[in-house]
Amino acid sequence: MTREMGDVEEFKLVVSRRKKRVSHIRNKCDSNVPLSVNDNENDHFNDVNCESLFGRLLETETEFRDSLFADNVFHCIKTSLNALNVSGISEILCYGLGSFSSQKSAKYQLALLLSLKNHYCSRVRVYDPIFTPIEMKLLTRFGLDVLNVNEEGKRIVEDDTTLVYMPHCSIHLINNFLYANWGKRLSKCILLTNSFSVVVDNLIASNVSVRVDYIVRIRPYVREITLRNNFPHEQVFNDLNIHIFLEEDIAKVPGNFWTERKEPCYSNTIIDYFTVKQTEEIDAKNYNYLSRLTR
Ligand SMILES: C[S@@+](CC[C@H](N)C(=O)[O-])C[C@H]1O[C@@H](n2cnc3c(N)ncnc32)[C@H](O)[C@@H]1O
Repeated sequence: MTREMGDVEEFKLVVSRRKKRVSHIRNKCDSNVPLSVNDNENDHFNDVNCESLFGRLLETETEFRDSLFADNVFHCIKTSLNALNVSGISEILCYGLGSFSSQKSAKYQLALLLSLKNHYCSRVRVYDPIFTPIEMKLLTRFGLDVLNVNEEGKRIVEDDTTLVYMPHCSIHLINNFLYANWGKRLSKCILLTNSFSVVVDNLIASNVSVRVDYIVRIRPYVREITLRNNFPHEQVFNDLNIHIFLEEDIAKVPGNFWTERKEPCYSNTIIDYFTVKQTEEIDAKNYNYLSRLTR
C-alpha cells in the first residue's frame, strides 16, 4: 500500500528532530562550556558521523546497483525514453526522499537516485524539509543541489527531459507538481512516483473527497509503466511506477483541458505535506531559540 503520513505526525517528527539538535546545543550551554568550543566538538562529532555515513551510503548504492530491481528500473526508464524519443535525462527533481540517515527506505531510495544521477550524468535537485544538516552536507558531497526553499512541489521544469522522483510522497504534492506543469510541458517529464492508478483506485474505493483533481484528470492520458517490485526489501519501492505523457496521448485532451487550471486549494482537508507556512514557522522558532542562546 502507498504510505502517506499525516501532517500532524510529520510536523511532530520534524519538530522533535530539530529539538534534538537544539537540545544538544542547550545541554552544552548549560554546562557553561563556551559556544565556540562546543561548535568545534560538535563539528568533530559530525565529521566522524558524516564520514561513516558517507561510506555506508556508497555501499548501499553498490548493493542497489547489483540488484535485479535496479535492472528493472533502468530497463523501464530506457523504454520510457524510447517512447518519448529522447536519449537522456538532463535533470532529476526529487521531493520527499525522507531521512536517509535513519530510515532504511529513504536510504535505498537515495541509492536509486545516485545510480540514476551517475548513469545519466544528470543535474539533481532535491528537497525534503526533514533533512538534517549532516544529510544536506552529504547530498552536496554526492554532487546534488539541495534546494533551500519549500516549493510545495510546484517547480516548473525546464525544457529538457526531467525525471521527477517522488517516492511515496504526499498525493497533494504530486497534484501540486502536475498543476505547476499543467500543459504540454508534461511531455518533458518522467514521473517516478506513487502509482497513479493505485492512487485513483484507492480514492474511488474509499469514497473520500480528496482534492487531487490534477491526478484524476490526467489519468486517462498518462502511460503508466509498471515497475516489477522484486527488491529484497519489499516496502522500499512498493507501489512506485513510472508515468509518461506521450505527445500523441496528450493531443487527445479536450479543448479547455489545459486552460482549466486553478491553484489547488486544500482547505477543509488534511494536508499531508509541509506547507511553506509550517516550514517557515519551524525555522523562525529555531532561529529565535538559537539567537536567545547566543545572546
Ligand atoms: C511518506 S514520507 C516518504 C519518505 C520516504 N520517501 C519513504 O518512502 O519512506 C513523505 C516525505 O515527504 C516529505 N515532505 C513533506 N513536505 C514536503 C515538501 N513540502 N516538499 C518536499 N518533501 C516534503 C516528508 O518530510 C517525508 O520525508
